[in-house]
Amino acid sequence: MGEKISDKMKFHIKTYGCQMNERDSEKVYCIFKEYGFEEASIQDADVVVVNSCAVREKAESKIYSEIGRIKSINKKAKIIAMGCVAQFNHKKLKTVSDFVVGTSSIDKFYRIVKNIEDGVVFVDEKMDNPDYIFPHKKGLNAFVDIMYGCNNFCTYCIVPFTRGREISRTKESIIDEVKQLVDNGTKEVMLLGQNVNSYGHKLGYGFVDLLYEVDKIGGLERVRFTTSHPKDFSKELIYAMKELKTVCEHIHLPLQSGSNKILKLMRRGYTKEEYLEKVYLYKEQIAEGSITTDIIVGFPQETEEDFQETLEIVKNVEYDTSFSFKYSKRPLTKAREIEPQVDEDVKLRRLNELQDLQAEITQRKNKEQIGKVFDVLVEGKSKKGNMLYGRNRQNTVVNFDFKDNINARGDVVKVKITKALKHSLVGELV
Ligand code: 5AD
Ligand code: SF4
Repeated sequence: MGEKISDKMKFHIKTYGCQMNERDSEKVYCIFKEYGFEEASIQDADVVVVNSCAVREKAESKIYSEIGRIKSINKKAKIIAMGCVAQFNHKKLKTVSDFVVGTSSIDKFYRIVKNIEDGVVFVDEKMDNPDYIFPHKKGLNAFVDIMYGCNNFCTYCIVPFTRGREISRTKESIIDEVKQLVDNGTKEVMLLGQNVNSYGHKLGYGFVDLLYEVDKIGGLERVRFTTSHPKDFSKELIYAMKELKTVCEHIHLPLQSGSNKILKLMRRGYTKEEYLEKVYLYKEQIAEGSITTDIIVGFPQETEEDFQETLEIVKNVEYDTSFSFKYSKRPLTKAREIEPQVDEDVKLRRLNELQDLQAEITQRKNKEQIGKVFDVLVEGKSKKGNMLYGRNRQNTVVNFDFKDNINARGDVVKVKITKALKHSLVGELV
């Protein structure tokens, strides 16, 4: 039997962007390993993969500077550009890389590993088989794609152009994947989609149905999901979260803006009143439920009053954390035409103000946890001294003394919180 072409090839993967990209990079990592490739530093690699993000201009320009940097460190390596920039700007990327692989073409890595000499552009409009179960790294936590793409066309967002139209995987395929993960030691899954609440509509079932099925899988400790779109986030989902033991008490519900005028210009499909109504029901029904969000400041036409309305909602909802961004003009999107655009210095001031407010709220909320007891899924040894760390069901990192519980990785333990830090909690075993 002849040796595989790719035997002992060395690879390095650099990932930018969201959890979807992280999962895609994991797929590539596993395909390379399956074909005998070895992980290495940029200097030593025969092939370097850069997984790109296009959501803001700064992220997009990163892939070009990163490829330049890689070439200056390692002239011989083949460069594979993948991810969101690869999907919508493959022509430009082809000029600086050997392969370009779009977001719908991850399966093409099975071809690349068989013949790394061919420089090709793989940018498919649609995935060949969304139900294909890509391999995972072994681990306690796993990302599981439940749907790909997005149909919402929020006016600022490039994602519908970089990840295509929404397509849901079948329940059967997702359940098979989660079962395989659990058989390999996974305790917690994060179900991924741009808008998980619209999962399955064309298949004749919905996200809540899927949650009921996933919850039944023996040996699975925790289920999380992201992202929830406020327009589709339903009462039924809140009640399912309440009923299903594995489903964790956390939602990521991107607000984007607290001004109805701006929400309309963004084409978000909800008003601030509708958003708040859902948040209030969630808070009322889900004891100790945490909530996080995404916010854009400086969207075109955003006035000081509009921005104040966003701050009001942040104060009112008291998010556990929020991810906030200055609006960035993106190609192909509607918002780039809306006038007037907001000055860069105004955007920056608003961003700082919002982030200061959020830091205050996060710190206050963390302090409120002192004295409470949480279930913590132990992930390993903490960087903070002689401690173990894990996350509570609300998704906050908790560090605690391990004493003789050194083998607790993968266990769920009860921890009483004694101290609140900026982004994490410290406690002791009870
Ligand atoms: N400018 C700034 N932020 C954006 N996001 C998406 N598109 C843009 C843009 N053009 C933010 C949104 C989204 C998060 C993933 O990125 O808040 O929820
Ligand atoms: Fe972008 Fe809106 Fe789709 Fe989210 S829902 S990916 S913000 S278009």
